[in-house]
Amino acid sequence: MCGIVGYVGDKEKKEILIDGLRELEYRGYDSAGIAVINSDTLTHFKAVGKLSNLEEKSSSFTSDGFGVAIGHTRWATHGKPNELNAHPHLGKKSYVVHNGIIENYTALKDELIDGGVEFLSQTDTEVIVHLFERELNSGKLAFEAFKATISKLHGAYATLLITKDEPDRIFFAKNGSPMLIGFGDNEVYFASSDTAVIGKADSVYYLEDGEYGFAKGDEVELYDIDGNRKDFTTIPLSGDKLSAQKDGFRFFMEKEIYEQSSVVVDTMMGRVLDKRIEFEEISEDFFDGIESIKICACGTSYHSALSASYLFERIAKIRCDVEIASEFRYKEPLLSSNTLFITISQSGETADTLEALKMAKRAGLKSLSICNVDNSSIVRESDAALLTRAGVEKGVASTKAFATQTLLLWMLSLYVAQKRGVVDSEFLESEIEALRKSPNSLKVESRLHDKIHRLSKRYLHGHGFFFIGRDIFFPLALEGALKLKEISYLHAEGYPAGEMKHGPIALADSELFTIALMPKTLLYDKIKSNVEELSARDTTILAISPEEFELADDFIKTESSSHVMLEFFEMMVVTQLLALEISVRLGNDVDMPRNLAKSVTVE
Ligand code: AGP
Repeated sequence: MCGIVGYVGDKEKKEILIDGLRELEYRGYDSAGIAVINSDTLTHFKAVGKLSNLEEKSSSFTSDGFGVAIGHTRWATHGKPNELNAHPHLGKKSYVVHNGIIENYTALKDELIDGGVEFLSQTDTEVIVHLFERELNSGKLAFEAFKATISKLHGAYATLLITKDEPDRIFFAKNGSPMLIGFGDNEVYFASSDTAVIGKADSVYYLEDGEYGFAKGDEVELYDIDGNRKDFTTIPLSGDKLSAQKDGFRFFMEKEIYEQSSVVVDTMMGRVLDKRIEFEEISEDFFDGIESIKICACGTSYHSALSASYLFERIAKIRCDVEIASEFRYKEPLLSSNTLFITISQSGETADTLEALKMAKRAGLKSLSICNVDNSSIVRESDAALLTRAGVEKGVASTKAFATQTLLLWMLSLYVAQKRGVVDSEFLESEIEALRKSPNSLKVESRLHDKIHRLSKRYLHGHGFFFIGRDIFFPLALEGALKLKEISYLHAEGYPAGEMKHGPIALADSELFTIALMPKTLLYDKIKSNVEELSARDTTILAISPEEFELADDFIKTESSSHVMLEFFEMMVVTQLLALEISVRLGNDVDMPRNLAKSVTVE
């Protein structure tokens, strides 16, 4: 959730921290802070709100020469977003930054308060720095004190600590929240994600859970969960930042909507062949003995999972259940070993999804992850992984991640069907032809975008939105509603069209907006009747369909297509643009909507 950056070396430290934090700001932007120790001078700055406030506050500060530095951008879990709760947290002579949640912090805090410690913040994090200094005061050397501190912490954390007692070292520990170490020219970096060190570090090591240690100069001492010194191998860091910039679009979300048509080409590359689907990441016998599939995910990824359940059952004739990861974790699920456990996650760091995966593994299930971030925790934890290849997604409201996940799951359902021998070559070839047309269905025509922009002014009020669809268009309706509420702050629900008459239709009046997904290739007459029922109750209807619908108040015409998934993708783009344009008209921050974070690494 939060973003962490650390640096040991000679370069200007403030710039390195702020640059890195800018890359991580999408993870949380309630407040930010930095702390630097140069020889024995301690300096820190904190500011509420966006990183620009911190930059302004620290503008006259420079930090040349050898030193250590840590920085943080926060998404509040414990305590309000104010300066006192912003990281780094300060003891008498040490600073700490942390991502995650210290579950036993109340007990630790009470114990420290009983010992005379005064707390400045309401955060769980502050216990770390006070525990550490208590250990130091008992006569331990800094590393021993750090080890003793982390051994007392329960929960998920990635943490960095610096102290005046050892002003040339950064102490680090990782358990459950992501962190990596980057290596440059006689310097060491730390970060929650590699985007923060691209262009700076040449190689990286992704820390495993339970690992801890310290960096001194350009040397790193690493210890495993059992306290044994560990050798580690770094991997080269590639990539450039250009792809993560806005390329002339107003918002990252807008850029990412436009990119969908090209990134799905990458998703298919080397996998969609002339007559079959191939995944070289999966061994030939991976699906042997698998009788059913269970998918766990959160948010948008959960919606792509729901879409996949229609595809797996319809195409591959394999049973597929889908569960929200945070529910799955505590329901004491019954799992059987012939079930393949699939997790879907853009970031690969979502705490609930990761924990669901660990549970499934403990129960002996084979696991597969569908993910956008290589080397992320979920990818590393899974038996096999299929990368969605969407490129960096920066908008908090997920768009291209959903498109690539859904496309990949469609490919996977065909692959499983192929393996199970439940489809003939003619069917496969026609599906492959449709897959290859999907980049076209995802193209944003300026005529369409203009129309949605004009229409959007009529949808800025009202008492709520219902996105309705049937079959695989029901998860799309859920996703359309999620997009709208995330960035417009208007109430929106996704509903199965046929279910409206079982309750929600009571809300129908002219101030209720219905966004009707009316594909021509699937159950058109059924959904048409459902929309007519709403129209009869004077609901304002925006119909999205290739077929003119005379009862609609507003109408967006999509292309007539021969394949249901092509209609799906085209309508998906319409709902994304609608949410975007409504949000822009309402003057909201499209890329960093209130209260949200891109990567939800806490429970
Ligand atoms: C999407 O717009 C959301 N911001 C959110 O629902 C997201 O999809 C969810 O938190 C899961 O994230 P993941 O895909 O990285 O696991």
